[in-house]
Amino acid sequence: MAKILGGIATSHIPAIGVAMDKGLEQTPYWKDFFDAYPPVREWLYAQQPDIAVIFYNDHGLEFFHDRKPTFAIGAAAQYDNADEGWGIAEIPPVTGETELSWHIINQLVEHEFDVTVCQEMKVDHGLTVPLTLMWPGHQYGHIKVIPIAINCERHPMPKPSRCFDFGKAIGDAIRSYSGNQKVVVFGTGGLSHQLDGQRAGFINKAFDLYCMEKIVDEPEALIKFSNFDLVEQAGSQGVELNMWLAMRGALQGKLIELHRSYHLPISNTGAGLQLLATTEAV
Ligand code: DHB
Ligand code: FE
Repeated sequence: MAKILGGIATSHIPAIGVAMDKGLEQTPYWKDFFDAYPPVREWLYAQQPDIAVIFYNDHGLEFFHDRKPTFAIGAAAQYDNADEGWGIAEIPPVTGETELSWHIINQLVEHEFDVTVCQEMKVDHGLTVPLTLMWPGHQYGHIKVIPIAINCERHPMPKPSRCFDFGKAIGDAIRSYSGNQKVVVFGTGGLSHQLDGQRAGFINKAFDLYCMEKIVDEPEALIKFSNFDLVEQAGSQGVELNMWLAMRGALQGKLIELHRSYHLPISNTGAGLQLLATTEAV
């Protein structure tokens, strides 16, 4: 059976990708942020996962407000980059994994999560920045990726508890797959931020640290929030916490927290990094 080795939650701010492409990691603004990542990269190197299932949000590039799936899952052999406004990013495409994608899709619909299935899907910084953070120099072509987009951009959005249950259904589907693949699950985005409006620049460090504490062993404390609570506490884009909750939902059994770090601000955001290993990890 396929194994879930653990979950990684990380910020996906586009400026991170720009800083890496320009080689700015050791400059004063970025140093502390990037210094948190090597232990997580080393864990990935030791574990050698075959597949990354990535919960992210599409920022209106593949799915704009006129047609917005609540939950969308990729079933393509390759995912090309979206144009984020500066032309199509000159970074490698992302490798897909169609067999496990279809297994997850079938299991989800069987268990009453009626997802949008995408046999073509462009991906944005919500997915490619975390991949580049884990495999610098855009060296992520070897890892097969299953992108799963959760609507965090337009109301109505799925609730935190629903995102957690969605992640749980995906975890169950992965664990029921007859292959022997090793899978790592990502939740990208967050933590508190508000990019526009009257509270633009709003960050709530205390709330971010609370979320990182509770997500380990007490996710019930987080899934009782409404999306309105998240907007109030963490800013309008703070609902990106829902991707972290989907990742956490996919994990089962005793978890070992191998890494937690938090840095603020990066761009307009409280930037968190967390690694939760399952007992399936070596
Ligand atoms: C920023 C954060 C995001 O989550 C995002 O999608 C885009 C920009 C930022 O803080 O700059
Ligand atoms: Fe975002």
